Amino acid sequence: MPLAKDLESYFAANQNRARDELFDLLRIPSVSARSEHNADTARAADWVANSMRAIGLTATIHPTKGHPIVVGEWRQAKPGAQTVLIYGHYDVQPAEPLELWDSPPFEPTIRDGKIFARGSVDDKGQLYLHIKALEAHLATRGTLPMNVIVLAEGEEEVGSENLEQFIASHEDLLTCDSVVISDSAMFAPGLPSILSSLRGLAYFEINVQGPAGDLHSGSYGGAVMNPAMALARILATMHDADGHIAIPGFYDKVRDWGAKARDEIRALPFDDEHFREETGSPSLFGEKGYSTLERVWMRPTCEVNGLLSGYTGEGAKTVLPAKAMAKVSCRLVPDQTPDEIEKLMRAHVASVSPPGVQVTVTQLHGGRPWRADLDGPLFDAARRALRAAFDKEPVVTGEGGSIPVVGDFQRILGTPVLLVGFGLPGENAHAPNEWMSVENYEKGMRAMAGLWEELGRA
Ligand code: BES
Ligand code: ZN
Repeated sequence: MPLAKDLESYFAANQNRARDELFDLLRIPSVSARSEHNADTARAADWVANSMRAIGLTATIHPTKGHPIVVGEWRQAKPGAQTVLIYGHYDVQPAEPLELWDSPPFEPTIRDGKIFARGSVDDKGQLYLHIKALEAHLATRGTLPMNVIVLAEGEEEVGSENLEQFIASHEDLLTCDSVVISDSAMFAPGLPSILSSLRGLAYFEINVQGPAGDLHSGSYGGAVMNPAMALARILATMHDADGHIAIPGFYDKVRDWGAKARDEIRALPFDDEHFREETGSPSLFGEKGYSTLERVWMRPTCEVNGLLSGYTGEGAKTVLPAKAMAKVSCRLVPDQTPDEIEKLMRAHVASVSPPGVQVTVTQLHGGRPWRADLDGPLFDAARRALRAAFDKEPVVTGEGGSIPVVGDFQRILGTPVLLVGFGLPGENAHAPNEWMSVENYEKGMRAMAGLWEELGRA
């Protein structure tokens, strides 16, 4: 069913304001990873809380050991109505390298129908479109077909360290019938998508210490273990030539998705060459026996995110470095857990570390993978609302990225989670020139307003 006339007219009449308001939020550099932005991050939390109050929700800011959690509430629905929790994050990734942005990251600009700014799609635009969808109902009808909790956190981009604890200790506040999240992308332009899986994450730092200080590579080279070489050797043991991860036990808990799931993945409109072009890599590479989408959605990974050792400046310097460091992260799939992977990683690194260096493994953060069956009235309503807003049948997709809290919602609150994203392939999330399509920002609002109407009808 098309969106009700009153809601549609409201969106049309308030389109520019909805955009201007989002721009205000995008101007706040709420970079959660950087302490010099702590005041900005707090300001973004205030801004989000006020935007909830402005549409008729009550909003509370809950301080944490890190960045605050904002909870908005509207609980005046008819008796027997459902309670829906909408989750999003107001923190963003660092904008660096700044010189690669075509316009400044915190001065939102529209070009080619795209809103360019850090956080436009991940996740401020997608969080705010939900607030605007609620506004449309409250402003036109004075009511909502369900009770609503909006949970906006400021630490998603740094691993949601304080959120699990917050959820566990605020079960009364957060009890709900379902959770809805927009923090992902559609599978293709114009093709609305519902997510059925996310990978988890186990993130490590590996430090290798050799001599007490840097040494002359002539006077000492060959007589002590070189930490950079030691680290390279350790890292080289993590995969075999076919792209399988060679850490003993790594695949023990990996659930087989079965032939049906693999058939469904194969049926999606996907082109390896197009995907390769998007990456700019000379060719694709991955675990033998799996297609690209299978590799990204249903198989775990072990990746080096960063490496540091020795002399990297101009020209040559003959030096034997004292230490070396690698950031290594594993994307996890059901039923792997970050804790088990940490044990396996530690045991493996210990067993392959060469003599003559001290190797330490530190876990930085982790999150569980998630996969769900998309059954029930919420998912049916979402399919109808997306079809109406985009004039296209939605597809069910997987995702290689992580949203750590999704597994917690399911585990602690026991509720189904609907993940419906309005980003697009190539949106440059976490990279320079991040963008969100203006069209998806506006259709996303309509789809969500339609979802609440569908839910009220069900
Ligand atoms: N919006 C992303 C999650 C995501 C990534 C969805 C890719 C769809 C595709 C989220 O903000 C994010 O970046 N998550 C981090 C989590 C990590 C810091 C624990 C990620 O996946 O790296
Ligand atoms: Zn992100």
